[in-house]
Amino acid sequence: MDARGTGTGTGTGTGTGTGTIVARLRAAGCVFAEEEAQLFVAEAHDAEELEQFLARRVAGEPVEYILGWAQFRGLRVVVAPGVFVPRLRTGIVVREALRVLPAVPREGAASAPGTFHGSGRSPDAGGVGSFLDSPTPVVLDLCCGAGAIGAAILAARPDTEVHAVDIDPAATKCARRTLDAVWSGRPSAYAEPTPFAVTGSAAPGGADLGGADPGGAGLGGADPGGADPGGADPGGAESGSANLGADPGSADLAGTGSPDACRPDAASSRAVTVPHVHTGDLYAPLPASLRGRVDVITANAPYVPTEDIRLMPPEAREHEALAALDGGSDGLDLQRRVAEGAAEWLAAGGHVIIETSRRQAVATAGILEAAGFAAVIVRDDEVDGTAVVATAGGVTGR
Ligand SMILES: C[S@@+](CC[C@H](N)C(=O)[O-])C[C@H]1O[C@@H](n2cnc3c(N)ncnc32)[C@H](O)[C@@H]1O
Repeated sequence: MDARGTGTGTGTGTGTGTGTIVARLRAAGCVFAEEEAQLFVAEAHDAEELEQFLARRVAGEPVEYILGWAQFRGLRVVVAPGVFVPRLRTGIVVREALRVLPAVPREGAASAPGTFHGSGRSPDAGGVGSFLDSPTPVVLDLCCGAGAIGAAILAARPDTEVHAVDIDPAATKCARRTLDAVWSGRPSAYAEPTPFAVTGSAAPGGADLGGADPGGAGLGGADPGGADPGGADPGGAESGSANLGADPGSADLAGTGSPDACRPDAASSRAVTVPHVHTGDLYAPLPASLRGRVDVITANAPYVPTEDIRLMPPEAREHEALAALDGGSDGLDLQRRVAEGAAEWLAAGGHVIIETSRRQAVATAGILEAAGFAAVIVRDDEVDGTAVVATAGGVTGR
């Protein structure tokens, strides 16, 4: 909607002029009041909805839950209340996955059932048992949350077969919507970058100063609640943490259309396989046919030590599900289980990429090495991201 009004509010009224909105947000402690005001005005259908947005925000609800989406690497990722809001720093996992993914179909694996070459529709509509010997690269995103990692990989590599798993049905519902939208190539899947989103906007107090930090980054990440006591910055998520982008056309990642099982990739004419989203505990819900076929396992599993959760900014600790944050006493419980189970699912020479914090990176690498992988710690200062890239068979590619 258009922002109209005098813009002379003091922060205490309920006006919808831009100046009034900014003042109200600022009074509520929103560091990125101007940017949020722009977003709310752009996204609200009418003055009543705008007022609802503002009331929720002033009450402390994360921007992403109010809008129903977060921006991640140029995509609008659907998020619902309680579902982990994708953080910009997780872009490092996508970057590394794209780096290690096979560039071309594996030799000798052409024309498998369940893949499609040419135009038209796949005959077997994506049954999970139909992907044996697929020539397409296969990515398994464990602890997928809203599906950001898989969606970003699929957007960059539409030839990839993506499987995403989360234990939380609310998360997999979001992931399915986002992955389907990207897969089906709906323009609505894409968010325009904004001046205040994505890179260069890391939280000043923010992410990964050595602590478990599934909280941080975001749209600009000033972290009013996220002071970093003793470097355990599980926060970084700030009031206004949004990974957001102004893309009014894209409000319907939520779109209702369900994709066909396979569609031709115009660029390569290679098969493009429908993404699969599974609800359950790590590897448990996966089809047996996936064993030994996965090229890359990605995991941004919860990695905040239980004791540090209380240090996280309220937007994370009060609004995101505990299961999305709590990594156990040292934060590494889920990472151990990811590492232990990986070999069974990976193809020869496959990779495991796990997001971690600077403080925990050596321990994460040790976990992967103990599971028989060669592990390398990687950093992206631009998004303040840390990850460990592990390779089966001892070759890291670096
Ligand atoms: C830190 S969030 C990351 C979400 C997503 N990968 C991202 O980067 O935005 C961790 C996710 O792990 C999920 N999770 C926790 N325990 C799990 C388990 N045992 N199996 C599968 N998913 C799990 C949570 O529900 C949550 O969505």
